[in-house]
Amino acid sequence: MSRGHIPSFTWANIFHLCTILCMLITPAVMVKHENFKTCEQSGFCKRNRAYADTALSTSNWNSPYTLDPASIKFNKGVLTGTVLKKLATSDENVRLPLTITFHEAGTARVTVDEERRQKGDIELRHDSKARKERYNEAEKWAIVGGTAVSTGAALSKDADQGTTRVLFGQGSKFEAIVRHAPFGIDFKREGETQIQFNDRGLMNFEHWRAKVEKPEVAAAEGSEENQTEDTAVKTDSGEDESTWWEESFGGNTDSKPRGPEAVALDINFPGYGHVYGAAEHTGPLSLKETRGGDGKYSEPYRLYNSDVFEYELDSPMTLYGSIPFVQAHKKDSSVGVFWLNAAETWIDITKSTSTANPLSLGIGNKVTTQTHWFSESGLLDAFVFLGPTPQDVIGSYAELTGFTELPQHFAIAYHQCRWNYVTDEDVKDVDRKFDKHRIPYDVIWLDIEYTDGKKYFTWDPMNFPDPIGMQKQLDQRERKLVGIIDPHIKNEGGYSIVDEMKSKDLAVKNKEGTIFEGWCWPGSSHWIDCFSPKGREWWKSLFRYDKFKGAAKNMFIWNDMNEPSVFNGPETTMPKDNLHYDNWEHRDVHNINGMTFHQATHDALLARDKDEDKHNVRPFVLTRAFFSGSQRLGAMWTGDNQASWGHLEASIPMLLSMGISGYPFAGADVGGFFGNPDKELLTRWYQAGAFYPFMRAHAHIDTRRREPYLAGEPYTQIIAQAIRLRYSLLPAWYTAFHEASTTGAPILRPNYYVHPGDEKGFAIDDQFYLGSYGLLAKPVTKEGEKGQEMYLADKEKYYDYFDYWMYEGPSTVKVAADLDTIPFLMRGGHIIPRRDRPRRSSGLMKFDPLTLVVVLGNSGDAEGTLYLDDGESFDYKDGAYIHRRFHYQGSTSTLMSEDLGVSGKRTKEYLKTMEKVRVEKIVVVGAPDAWRGKTEVEVSEEQGGKSSAARQVELEYHEREAGKAAWAVVRDPGVQVGAGWKIAF
Ligand code: NOJ
Repeated sequence: MSRGHIPSFTWANIFHLCTILCMLITPAVMVKHENFKTCEQSGFCKRNRAYADTALSTSNWNSPYTLDPASIKFNKGVLTGTVLKKLATSDENVRLPLTITFHEAGTARVTVDEERRQKGDIELRHDSKARKERYNEAEKWAIVGGTAVSTGAALSKDADQGTTRVLFGQGSKFEAIVRHAPFGIDFKREGETQIQFNDRGLMNFEHWRAKVEKPEVAAAEGSEENQTEDTAVKTDSGEDESTWWEESFGGNTDSKPRGPEAVALDINFPGYGHVYGAAEHTGPLSLKETRGGDGKYSEPYRLYNSDVFEYELDSPMTLYGSIPFVQAHKKDSSVGVFWLNAAETWIDITKSTSTANPLSLGIGNKVTTQTHWFSESGLLDAFVFLGPTPQDVIGSYAELTGFTELPQHFAIAYHQCRWNYVTDEDVKDVDRKFDKHRIPYDVIWLDIEYTDGKKYFTWDPMNFPDPIGMQKQLDQRERKLVGIIDPHIKNEGGYSIVDEMKSKDLAVKNKEGTIFEGWCWPGSSHWIDCFSPKGREWWKSLFRYDKFKGAAKNMFIWNDMNEPSVFNGPETTMPKDNLHYDNWEHRDVHNINGMTFHQATHDALLARDKDEDKHNVRPFVLTRAFFSGSQRLGAMWTGDNQASWGHLEASIPMLLSMGISGYPFAGADVGGFFGNPDKELLTRWYQAGAFYPFMRAHAHIDTRRREPYLAGEPYTQIIAQAIRLRYSLLPAWYTAFHEASTTGAPILRPNYYVHPGDEKGFAIDDQFYLGSYGLLAKPVTKEGEKGQEMYLADKEKYYDYFDYWMYEGPSTVKVAADLDTIPFLMRGGHIIPRRDRPRRSSGLMKFDPLTLVVVLGNSGDAEGTLYLDDGESFDYKDGAYIHRRFHYQGSTSTLMSEDLGVSGKRTKEYLKTMEKVRVEKIVVVGAPDAWRGKTEVEVSEEQGGKSSAARQVELEYHEREAGKAAWAVVRDPGVQVGAGWKIAF
């Protein structure tokens, strides 16, 4: 610049100024996009999208895959054959063994492998020690049942030319029509096509090939940082090989010793307008299209478990966990697909509309949802569920991958966490303050600072000199402690855990086969390899009371950072060419990694408490990373959210998505992790949190303290009310968990699940039902909101939970939502169990009496169930539980309690402990006019199979008031909760 030159004020300057201003006013919390790959930056994603673009823009595209008809065999529910991939440059076909298994449960499984890799007939580059096969052990981790092969499945004689037709499922209502050329499968239910494989011809199986060495220049180009289009290196057949042999991102180079090996398939859902699932993402429950356009994403949904710092909302970016399971839904029909692959996976979604009849003027337009799945390595392995109800699909998926283990009762109550409670005295002080302010809580949590220098299984001697004393104080009110234990083990000589792990050779290895070293909270660290059976055994031993000194019986565990998070690794995780047990590359198992750690800790707690006494307690382990199957091991939470209204709002679709993905024990940090919520936001968050299946407040180390009693009035009281609401409904929550643990049913249920025929409600994801109780909530998630519109899907009566204000569906109604009010309705036809006596912890409510709320609707009948057990042991497996069905029959005005239980060896003993637990109150909402003037009901009990003589008990009838329902109450009918009885009104 010459002297005296006055810079001109250009657009560039204005732009820079704006950028600086924007940085000053927008909060500093923002995901670092540059740390995570876009599809364009992920070699196989880019290749598969390009493949799809070519296929879809080529008229008469011919998928190069055919099923060799001569190879097809069908035996006892299993079809096998060989799919041949035709190569452009050679006459030799690639042989891909195909297996289609038809299961008793009505699911079908399609598995495609690659013969050459299967036989180990390939060469690895860079002297790699990695396995040569495609990873075939995902099922070992994910699948636990539902795989009995259908003996009834049969080949049909009347298949069209060039197809093989298999009938399966009950009454042969399902069919698979396997097309030979090009290879594809149509799955039908009752004659109608529901799911199509390779209909658009996007199937792509990157077969093994040897690298043809290129002149230096091209090779160097191919390894440039964050490759983009410019670096494309073409093979003789015109394919872009720039990311086949090695791939760099953010300063890390992946050596890819097996070359390109992605698998891809297009899966269509003809006639289906909505798809749900593919958790974990922040967007709406009904998944968006991903190929650009107004309001759509331009990136595919990504599944690659990652520690995404300050994650953003409404995004297909990957998060901490992956469940590659989607359900498609249309009026009165649900179907689903589970893509069993643990490698990095992306899913593109598009929708197409076809007009069935040109004269129909839009009526009868059919939307088809088209999905396109691609994974970096492993098998092509997909399960198909043909419905027809949402519960059929979720139930079958849950049968395969396992049900939520019934948690200990404390685990579904309120948890108080922050990073960190700094001393044992601090913990005891918080504990006392909850009591002082009469706010119930069950669990207090310790984050990483409790350890001695981030060495897990140790306590900071200065700040936690007396962990046992601290846990004793908690135990006085039946409260628990949860401590964090992460998978990174501090690399410090003399730390016995790392020394042992090294000497026993139990850590994850780098590509050279020596111990992998990376950076996490403790600084330099190594990672326990829980794929190794010996590693898991050793991990188990660390939790024994004599080993983990200072841990008492009321201490449970939090597993964090298990994606795994590696601060200096590519995309904040492990290099893909790292090696796990049995020399599987990290690339193959990445999305399962977190689950193996969760499993090891879960099993460790099981082992820890086994035989301590005869009532072994159930483990509780929270995880951040997860995969299909993690629901068997404990709760998950949605990681590091922010104290913003947007994050509060986003938590609801995220948790609904977890529920319909078979993992209902899910929560989000109440209050928001990063930042300081103002009091209104904090209050609203507790009101929403009271409906999270896993309800835990948590906060970042840099935030101000925000225990509920610090908020001040009226906030503290309103928050306490929300927590008490949770506690009073614990019998309903526990029953919903029991249902989830036996059927896989979600605990929070979206509209489409409860009303599968109501098209208007298919995309609704800001309100939900709790269990099977017809309890409909729509927590406020917007600042300053005073009223909430709620959508009532069906012709039924709904009542305000608190004041019995009446609403009539189907309609959209406005429900009051002042700061002290949660929009919460009861649908007619249900009976809701509660425990209304406020206590300090849920453990102290164990023998409290129950209240039953009978909500009468249009039919005049109502029903509901109740499940109770000791809330801590596995004795329920021996019959130590109460399972009742309450049924109110309008025609006879009678309320009955029936047993749904099965007697076992501990039934009697348990019932004895519950003998004194009674129903202390029955409230009938929407009480009939005919009860006016009624003052008594007749109560009779079941004794030895007979009814006792009837007793008279007082009834109080409350007249209808403007807008509100009439209601009646019977106080102390004197009946036991675990016994049969009848009340005639
Ligand atoms: C990350 C977790 O997501 C967060 O909840 C925790 O507080 C920190 N790690 C520290 O352990």
